[in-house]
Amino acid sequence: MFTTARLISPATPVDGAPTLVGRFALDPGHGALVRATLRYSALGIVEAALNGARVSDDLLTPGWSSYEWRVRVAETDVTALVEAESTLELTLGNGWYRGSLTWMGATGVYGDRLAAIAEVDLVFTDGHKQVWASDASWSVHAADTVKDDLYHGQTIDARRRGAAPVAAEVEVIDAPSVHFEPYIGPSVAPVETLPVRDAWLSPAGRVIVDFGENLVGWVRAEVAGPAGSTVTLRHAEVLERGEIGIRPLRSARATDRFVLSGSADVFEPRFTFHGFRYVEVDGWPGGLDAVRRGGLEAVRISSRLRRTGTFSSSDPLLNQLHENVVNSTLGNFVDLPTDCPQRDERLGWTGDIAVFAPTSAYLFDVDDFLRDWLRDVSVEQQHQGGVVPYVVPDVLKYVGVPQDITPVDSTAVWSDAIVWVPWAVWMASGDVRVLSENVEGMLSHLRHVSSLVSESGLWDRGFQFGDWLDPDAPPEDPAAAKADRGLVATACLYRSADLAVRVVEVLGRWDVRSELEHLRDATRRAFREAYVDPGEQRLRNHCETSYALAIAFGLLDDEERSWAGDRLAELVEASGHRISTGFAGTPYVLDALSGTGHLDTAGRLLLQRECPSWLYPVTMGATTIWERWDSMLPNGTINPGEMTSFNHYALGAVADWMHRELAGLAPLEPGYSRVRVAPRPIDGIDDASTSYDSVHGRIAVAWRREGATVHLEVTVPPGVVAEVRLGEVDAEIGAGVHRLSAEFAPTVAV
Ligand code: BGC
Repeated sequence: MFTTARLISPATPVDGAPTLVGRFALDPGHGALVRATLRYSALGIVEAALNGARVSDDLLTPGWSSYEWRVRVAETDVTALVEAESTLELTLGNGWYRGSLTWMGATGVYGDRLAAIAEVDLVFTDGHKQVWASDASWSVHAADTVKDDLYHGQTIDARRRGAAPVAAEVEVIDAPSVHFEPYIGPSVAPVETLPVRDAWLSPAGRVIVDFGENLVGWVRAEVAGPAGSTVTLRHAEVLERGEIGIRPLRSARATDRFVLSGSADVFEPRFTFHGFRYVEVDGWPGGLDAVRRGGLEAVRISSRLRRTGTFSSSDPLLNQLHENVVNSTLGNFVDLPTDCPQRDERLGWTGDIAVFAPTSAYLFDVDDFLRDWLRDVSVEQQHQGGVVPYVVPDVLKYVGVPQDITPVDSTAVWSDAIVWVPWAVWMASGDVRVLSENVEGMLSHLRHVSSLVSESGLWDRGFQFGDWLDPDAPPEDPAAAKADRGLVATACLYRSADLAVRVVEVLGRWDVRSELEHLRDATRRAFREAYVDPGEQRLRNHCETSYALAIAFGLLDDEERSWAGDRLAELVEASGHRISTGFAGTPYVLDALSGTGHLDTAGRLLLQRECPSWLYPVTMGATTIWERWDSMLPNGTINPGEMTSFNHYALGAVADWMHRELAGLAPLEPGYSRVRVAPRPIDGIDDASTSYDSVHGRIAVAWRREGATVHLEVTVPPGVVAEVRLGEVDAEIGAGVHRLSAEFAPTVAV
């Protein structure tokens, strides 16, 4: 990646964030400059400026990868910024490398020394090439940032900006173990800015600013006030009793401080980020009135993802739910797929993306984003005997895990990410690289799990998160689910083996097919023997998640599937059409119902507004998906549980069903070259539409109901074949815009 560049670091500690400075002159006598390309990276996070101008609007470079094995390198065209004599500045923040990580209060997990590296390739009209690179000749001075931490926030002192910098020396760091490689996925960037929606004084007399929705990023401030005075911003997702609700952030202080210079200052804390809707503002010159007059705006950040999927219906609450899923995707796809973006966690929990991957892959082009993260999954696995850790990058291996989740070993759903995530990306994009890059990881995962199953073939030993956050589990014990952990784990093992068989068939890996088929078939047999009671026509572990997984993953034969659907529908009805499933079951419960002739029950479950349900948070004003159904209790107080995030995409996996079943567009072949268009109108919804920008072009489905008749419009681009099923219609259509109508009977299973 770098030819001559060296990693450099301040020789002596700097007070605050260091800026490393290098100067270079263009080689004379070679005509004009044709192209200048900058490559740069860091141990820490780095922002680069050439001749005083930022080289791009990339943020948090080089993101968070499994640094022990791969540190990514940003590359950008800087031709327009180069001058005959140029100055390159690299300012370093602590980021994930040296800042706080995890709720165990760890810091400096990867190292205690920040460093940067850069190289500029210059090409001249006569073909001459010049390479200019970071080395021992650089100097260092203190930037305007006094303190920075992803969890705790950033302090910027504008008085440092005008002062003549005191230059100190850099030291070349010998780090042969650091492996630099290009980004596979997109960089992080600002997505949009949001104005202040409202501002007021809280009961305690504090200035509260509301940006109107829960977002991830920071507040940019333009302010003038007495030199040395400090503006303090504290961020929170929700209010409680009129004040900012910061308990859910746990130890994350999420506080930015701006020290004013005495003249007009602009502050943007780019070495941190927060999950917030509300900000408590202290020390703003002129107080509330001045805040209302302007100067504050929220900057939403996310990885650069192309939006591909849309959904809309006649129900505003359902539309808001969908919008919330989109928001939670943006907020948690900040360089890597995280559980949440606000508290002292923000980790790449594998289970969350395992269940959410299909939804995200419809809403956005996440192919490269997830391929990049999967590279870390593989590399972690290679160093942990095939175990897919709970979080990737796996920081828990350094800081330890709480007693109740030990010993660390493969766990269902979470470790299945190595199979489920590539499969979801493959189905959306048809990009076979995601399979070939991860097939070894899938094999080592399945071989390792095979070594964990009991004699009976069940995966019923060792620690499992199981049906995490079952709504009937007490707030302080989220693993206490109704679903049997062995049942959940064995069902997941079956699903992974089943998908892996299909993967090796795609790749032509005939050498391993029968091994996987054997595992798949043996797991299915063991599951059925232990958990299926055909005589009683019940599962022995009689709860919704068990039925949902058995049906959705294909563990039952046709007759069993039919009675299992009936049992599931009975349970859903008995629970008053309120959610009764956790992390494992929730993504599959609607499919299990609508696939067994219980569309009506699925519809009532989806449209339920009482807690727990998907729409309850929407009725409470949610603008993102919550971690718990009742993160905010009906009385407006925050759930007392330790884990109460208001921005957790996992339960948003329901949007996948809304796209595929309710609106009716599902892939049958990878890359959507063949799709099923089979809308499933439910009571309470009069119309729905969805579109997906596939690799072949936009596919769109829209239906509208008039009495028992459904009018359908389907747009199919060249290269895509659609199988249309609606009422008595069963047709295969190609490119074009097609309109048809049919009588629709909701109870028929498809
Ligand atoms: C995270 C979850 C995660 C879980 C694992 C939580 O703290 O926020 O989303 O998957 O732990 O148990």
